[in-house]
Amino acid sequence: METQVLAPDEEGIAAAAEVLRRKGIVAFPTETVYGLGADALSARAVARVFAAKERPRFDPVIVHVASPDEAGWLWASVPPLAKELMDRFWPGPLTLVLPRRRRVPGIVTAGLPTVGVRMPDHPVALGLIRAAGRPIAAPSANRFGRLSPTHHDDVLDQLRGRVDAVLAAGRTRVGIESTVLSLAEDPPVVLRPGGTPLEALREVVPNVRLAPPTGPSASPGTLPRHYVPATPLYLLDTGPVGGAEVVDRSRCGLLAFQRAWEGFAQVEVLSPTGDLVEAAARLFSALHRLDRGGLAAIVAEPVPEEGLGVAIMDRLRRAASARAYVAGQEVWWTR
Ligand code: TXA
Ligand code: MG
Repeated sequence: METQVLAPDEEGIAAAAEVLRRKGIVAFPTETVYGLGADALSARAVARVFAAKERPRFDPVIVHVASPDEAGWLWASVPPLAKELMDRFWPGPLTLVLPRRRRVPGIVTAGLPTVGVRMPDHPVALGLIRAAGRPIAAPSANRFGRLSPTHHDDVLDQLRGRVDAVLAAGRTRVGIESTVLSLAEDPPVVLRPGGTPLEALREVVPNVRLAPPTGPSASPGTLPRHYVPATPLYLLDTGPVGGAEVVDRSRCGLLAFQRAWEGFAQVEVLSPTGDLVEAAARLFSALHRLDRGGLAAIVAEPVPEEGLGVAIMDRLRRAASARAYVAGQEVWWTR
């Protein structure tokens, strides 16, 4: 299949919308990461998204809308709390999960009785939904389990030849996926930390809970191994780890939070000023660059678990094979 690369202007958006109406699949920018979209009401079109990503069918897909009213068309009912959250956080990186109407195909929700919906804060995404005239089901536009794409080049690296079109709009602003909040449970539960910080949610939902990172109450798609670069990644620990592997720093890359360390072959600093919003925006692009560096391993420094740091650490823990320890010129890790 030839993948059309489209400009993110009116003409490109119109062409992409036409692809969607014909049940094709299109990668498009949102404020978080690129999504791989299909007509959310067509099971056949959504099946093509699963095939292109090699995504297992047990993982439900988020539906993207261009207004809160359209969400009401997908959910069985809209409780006052959902209205309040949409008022405050939409458009933006917050996905709300509620019982679905029957018109939402089972493949979108992986057979669940609920559907996750969000209104993205990106003019190209909103333009595409409006031009297509229907809600768009879209997971992140990467091969299943791999790093999320924050630039159209990342999409093309992973999916060229597997999708009909890509709207090429450069880098995404937030850089980390939406927060997924289930209102189908009481108290509401964050299934995946993301671009809307817990602290902000608590102002509207004081009793919100954070689901354990894995296990039965976690989101069906939140696997312990996810967001995995091809190069082994190790999360830096403060104490010695009794590992078998010992490697010279000069063969390793470092994902640093504020400051570069000496001796590493390649260093990516997430935010010199310690700004977690900036760090989140740079996370996946930094990991993509390190992954292309031909390194023996990537060592990632932890970030503070507050604000967007919660989402960053969630992604790093899932990306990491194990823990590493750095001493002198050496890095060692457990398998
Ligand atoms: O920012 C984002 O959320 C991006 C952009 C493209 O919108 N999308 C994204 O989609 O990250 P994806 O498929 O990579 O992750 C969606 C997450 C998965 O963990 C999935 O299990 C969860 O949302 N999810 C979707 N619908 C759900 C539902 N009905 N119940 C529980 N979890 C759901
Ligand atoms: Mg994803």
